[in-house]
Amino acid sequence: MRLLERGYIVRATVRDPESMNKVKHLVELPGADTSLTLWKADMTEPGSYDEAIQGCEGVFHMATPMDFESGDPENEVIKPTVDGVLSIIRSCTKAKTVKRFIFTNSAGTINVEPQQKPVYDEDNWSDLDFIYSTKLTRMAAMEATKENNIDFICIIPPVVVGPFIMPTLPPSLITALSPITGNESHYSIIKQGQFVHVDDLCEAHIFLFEDQRARGRYICSSQDATIYDLAQLIRHNWPEYDIPTEFEGIDKDTPLVRFSSKKLIGLGFTYKYSLEDMFRGAIETCRQKGLLPYSTRSRGVEEIKEKEKLPILKEKFANGEVRVHWKLSKSLS
Ligand SMILES: NC(=O)c1ccc[n+]([C@@H]2O[C@H](COP(=O)([O-])OP(=O)(O)OC[C@H]3O[C@@H](n4cnc5c(N)ncnc54)[C@H](OP(=O)(O)O)[C@@H]3O)[C@@H](O)[C@H]2O)c1
Repeated sequence: MRLLERGYIVRATVRDPESMNKVKHLVELPGADTSLTLWKADMTEPGSYDEAIQGCEGVFHMATPMDFESGDPENEVIKPTVDGVLSIIRSCTKAKTVKRFIFTNSAGTINVEPQQKPVYDEDNWSDLDFIYSTKLTRMAAMEATKENNIDFICIIPPVVVGPFIMPTLPPSLITALSPITGNESHYSIIKQGQFVHVDDLCEAHIFLFEDQRARGRYICSSQDATIYDLAQLIRHNWPEYDIPTEFEGIDKDTPLVRFSSKKLIGLGFTYKYSLEDMFRGAIETCRQKGLLPYSTRSRGVEEIKEKEKLPILKEKFANGEVRVHWKLSKSLS
């Protein structure tokens, strides 16, 4: 969307361009009729990005196969991820037009360790088996792009929060909105969290594509907050939600863990959005799309569901994750 607004001609790859529920929000973007085309490509199919990338100057890579419940992560997650990225880089090489490859990496490559430091930057690396795939992918991608004179830029966002155009709940909002939904399994991720507004992240992608000085790895994170800070922010701005005052096993004085964006800011990038902006955008969009109740205060969600006989939409994804969406009746909205 932001690339189209800036006048870029955009080729977006999707696994199934015929699936209207997955692409409707893309083809309806302002300027899409003249400047956006959709191309069928899958990371597990070697060469399937060749045609889409032919003639492009920049490639933004965000897709990633995910299956947290895989019994064979080596073959079902790690191998397809590394092979998929290398296959896309081969497509870039074949095209001979690509100057820069912007790779969106996981924040899990930065700070996954039992004892958290007060501040993390681009020199920090997690060193655990389960982030092996992202580190390996990045290293393999760096080698391959270097050999082919393509600038390799890696951008590392933390939890991405804000409004969204897709019809379903973005995975990061399952985590960010967990103090509202009571999804306790996500509390540990935001116990000492870092956050970025989706629009700041999009702008950073374009900034790093356009700025010729950009090199290497960039953290893109604008706000740090503990789960208690988030609970307070939500309670203050949306008192209609019943937000816990205690989170089991998490101390109230848990310190902040900061992700430093010094390197990105040093290039001249500026963040526009506050933590409140992020949650306002996310909550308003969820409400508009019927993905979040307007209130949980007077009656629990279970009670609302039972009394109003509200339809519950359950989605089961390939990675085994189940997302539950509450469809609210008009009287509640
Ligand atoms: N969201 C965050 O808070 C966050 C934070 C840090 C880093 N990141 C990184 O940002 C990237 C995007 O995250 P996200 O939150 O946007 O994830 P997401 O909403 O789950 O999207 C992942 C995308 O990957 C596509 N995909 C999955 N397997 C594929 C395959 N074999 N071939 C081609 N496409 C495939 C999916 O396509 P379908 O739509 O067809 O399923 C989907 O569009 C990931 O690398 C993630 O690690 C995200």
